[in-house]
Amino acid sequence: MAILFQQDEKIFTLQTKQTAYQMKIDDFGYLLHLYYGGKISGSMDYLLTYYDRGFSGNPYDAGSDRTYSMDVLPQEYPTTGTGDYRNSALVIRNHDESECCDLRYAGHEIRTGKYGLPGLPAVHANSREAQTLEILLEDVVNGVRVRLLYGVLEEDDIITRSAQIINQGTGSVVVEKAASVCLDFVTGDYDLVSLYGRHAMERNMQRTPIAHGSQVIGSRRGSSSHQYNPAVIVADGNTTEDSGSCYGMVFVYSGNFLCEAEKDQYNQTRILMGLQSELFHYSLKEGEILTVPETILSYSDRGFGGLSVKYHHCIRDHVCRGVYQNSPRPVLVNSWEAAYFQFNGETICQLAKDAAELGIDMVVMDDGWFGKREDDNSGLGDWQVNETKLGCSLAELIHKVNDAGVKFGIWIEPEMVSEDSDLYRAHPDWAMLNPRRNPVRGRNQLVLDFSRKEVRDYIFEQICCVLDQGNIEYVKWDMNRSLTDVYSTENQQGKVSYDYVLGVYDFLEKLTAKYPHLLIEGCCGGGGRFDAGMLYYTPQIWCSDNTDAVDRLRIHYGTSFFYPMSAIGAHVSAVPNHQTGRNISLHTRGIVAMTGAFGYELSLGRLPKEEKEQVKDQIRQYKTYERLISGGDYYRLSDPFRDSYAAWMFVSEDQRTVLLHVVMLEIHGNMTVSYVKLRGLLPDASYEETESKKCYQGSALMRAGIPLPVEMKEYPAYQFIFQVKG
Ligand code: GLA
Repeated sequence: MAILFQQDEKIFTLQTKQTAYQMKIDDFGYLLHLYYGGKISGSMDYLLTYYDRGFSGNPYDAGSDRTYSMDVLPQEYPTTGTGDYRNSALVIRNHDESECCDLRYAGHEIRTGKYGLPGLPAVHANSREAQTLEILLEDVVNGVRVRLLYGVLEEDDIITRSAQIINQGTGSVVVEKAASVCLDFVTGDYDLVSLYGRHAMERNMQRTPIAHGSQVIGSRRGSSSHQYNPAVIVADGNTTEDSGSCYGMVFVYSGNFLCEAEKDQYNQTRILMGLQSELFHYSLKEGEILTVPETILSYSDRGFGGLSVKYHHCIRDHVCRGVYQNSPRPVLVNSWEAAYFQFNGETICQLAKDAAELGIDMVVMDDGWFGKREDDNSGLGDWQVNETKLGCSLAELIHKVNDAGVKFGIWIEPEMVSEDSDLYRAHPDWAMLNPRRNPVRGRNQLVLDFSRKEVRDYIFEQICCVLDQGNIEYVKWDMNRSLTDVYSTENQQGKVSYDYVLGVYDFLEKLTAKYPHLLIEGCCGGGGRFDAGMLYYTPQIWCSDNTDAVDRLRIHYGTSFFYPMSAIGAHVSAVPNHQTGRNISLHTRGIVAMTGAFGYELSLGRLPKEEKEQVKDQIRQYKTYERLISGGDYYRLSDPFRDSYAAWMFVSEDQRTVLLHVVMLEIHGNMTVSYVKLRGLLPDASYEETESKKCYQGSALMRAGIPLPVEMKEYPAYQFIFQVKG
């Protein structure tokens, strides 16, 4: 049993293979957090201490006991108005404008299987894999109820948390802030590891000590954003890549989020993950419910590497869905960096013929095939094929591509509208803007109000009309600007940013149900919406608009802390690179792109003959190791921001096959030798390096490592395959 309730002590214990989570209903009905971390047994309520703390109030129920204060006690779902002055998980504005919500235990239920969330993505698992604990809390004065949901995936060391806010009172209330999880630590000094970035340079890693006060990351951009990713690690100060203890929090949501890390006056630490409180006032009428998106928690005492392996398994097996969840993805060539907007049907057919010759499975026709779309200033919203530009119908084009022996995919950006479009001229009120102001433009386009069903329904119909024209096997779903004028002519303003995201999910749910065999790749100016929420619908996401191999090493490194390699769309592009001007060999570009869902993004016809042969080899190599890359355990072996080389490896489940990738980042005169240490091997097994036929003991490779070659050139890359003999 993964979930236990001790009636006498009123203690809940959630158990996974290597972790435990404990909480307690105290004498006043408050739900106190006791413990989360490595496996323990017995009650952890001895950790709670009680002292008279000046200026920390005491609940009325505590009578004259001045040692009992919500300002100090660790809690599962702290709220404003109870005497806890730290960051709150929930802020409610009541009917009378007061801001108090005093939640007490009102019941619980333990079920087999994993709960689901209405309209939202969530971890899925079958009844053997998961259990659910639902705890009901209630404020008897305002009638607000909170249903705390805990999902326990015992074998995966995963605990999920979500919350539903229910207005069971009379009159409406407004949810001003809502988190899905609060983690309180009574002791310890922690670092916060977060991923920051910008367009074309997403998910750099940042590690800062959690200090007194509050450290906040989040998004107000409508998408989860290039700037901060909705996933963090809380680590002991001495935790490294392969040792030490750390906790992960991954928010399964693609919109505005808020993560707060706070060290309080008694050196206790609180971390909250949930919905962004700005641009959000969610009013609930009597009987209405708000569901807060889920957070996936995990814990590792084997450093960041151990934590990443758990998240990769969880997201691959329990977040991603559909036919491509665990099956090989097509190697594709995308027309964007090959031709941008300057293409016609012939260009695409030629790309298909070249692709077929090289062994590429699919051609993707990117932006520019619809409406009036010769550049990015017009046409969005007019999802009618521009047959004049293509020189044929879409059906004919797809036939030609398929006849060349190649699959066909297409780019769409359903959430957007150009002012210069028939759609905008017909329905200006469908765009998100305040009629009293001029809108803020982004890429010279506006955002459609996807919180409105009629808007979604219209676009859905248009997109289906395109998809029904032929054998389209892949869609790249893009989103190329942030939300600014968050205003709806139909919806309540404080609900728009949340309802927008649910609108996107609703659309994607319908699309995946109608076209179950379609592979959808998410995209948002590259990686501006790279999150577990999108991965529920799109098993891969275009990781960045930056295709430079050296920058990509770093982007992949940051992304890999939480997200599996199968989720990372990674392409070989032309040199000099279009984003950096850097010249990197095709070999190195191939090895970097072979980290994820592999493809090309260049004009294949322009490749010299020798490079075409190299491309063929790369595809053969990728296909040989595709299962290992997308399904094996992934280990970061260096920090490409600090070290002179980037190294990462994939290990098969039986630990007998290893793929090691290395890119040298520095070269100097009279160069020193670097040694790379492997991980996750069988210590006593003998591994043969298949090229040199040299054998190494697993423990030697892990403890001493292997020397890397020194070559006089920039960014040489190496691929080593190790195989256990016998
Ligand atoms: C975004 C994407 C690119 C490409 C363009 C098309 O920037 O990230 O890959 O699809 O849009 O406009």
